[in-house]
Amino acid sequence: MINKTVMTKAIPLGSNKARYIQEMFAQIAPIYDRVNSWISWRRDGVWRRRAVEEVGILKGKLVLDVGAGTGGLAAMAAGEAIRVVAVDLCRDMLLKGQAKFQNSKHNPTWVLGDGTALPFNEGSFHCVMSSFVLRNVFPLQTFLGEVRRVLKPGGVVVFLELATPPHKGLASLHGLYLKWGVPLFSRWLGGSADAYHYLVSSIQAFPAAEHVKALMEQQGFRHVNYRHLDGGIVFLQKGYK
Ligand SMILES: C[S@@+](CC[C@H](N)C(=O)[O-])C[C@H]1O[C@@H](n2cnc3c(N)ncnc32)[C@H](O)[C@@H]1O
Repeated sequence: MINKTVMTKAIPLGSNKARYIQEMFAQIAPIYDRVNSWISWRRDGVWRRRAVEEVGILKGKLVLDVGAGTGGLAAMAAGEAIRVVAVDLCRDMLLKGQAKFQNSKHNPTWVLGDGTALPFNEGSFHCVMSSFVLRNVFPLQTFLGEVRRVLKPGGVVVFLELATPPHKGLASLHGLYLKWGVPLFSRWLGGSADAYHYLVSSIQAFPAAEHVKALMEQQGFRHVNYRHLDGGIVFLQKGYK
């Protein structure tokens, strides 16, 4: 089970958005992995692997996965790092992940907490990672500031996020897939219409990688850079404290 002190820690739900996000992910937790895998045509695992590779050497490092959900990214890093902490504000997502990895040597440490008020001391981690979370956190600047605070000086952050492809033609096709394909798949797999409307609108409303880069620089990250994967339906952002 999740550590008792962790479970009783009050989650500072800073806004209604945080509560909405928490409830929505609790609702879809049982089918989250399956739906993700189908709607991404099984690319989600490949993208997470790319994020882990982007960090570089994990051996000997303390790693934090923020918005870890069911732990797909955290578990990939857990094989190499000294310790990986998986933090998320949705208890049901964490419980699902915990059940999935309980007998695995890649089992991270699970912590219930909010990315906009992380329950860790300053300079606790060599590396912070996060996959498909930026669109969900509010305010994003506070989240970025918290990520920087818990990093050790010189520490690295890697964000993976869904996006709208920069190429107009591809963006139109991608828009059609989001509008028709994603809801079809998710309903077929037992998902709630609300959750997947949210997924689609959050991708379309989220700023481009260039804008996220500027926000990271405003928060004091250095050497910030990004690259698009799969034509830009996903981007990877990297920076240093
Ligand atoms: C799309 S899921 C991604 C889960 C996982 N990282 C993955 O790769 O599948 C987004 C996750 O972010 C979590 N989340 C959203 N806002 C958060 C916040 N402010 N603090 C911590 N976790 C948050 C949600 O509860 C959810 O589990």
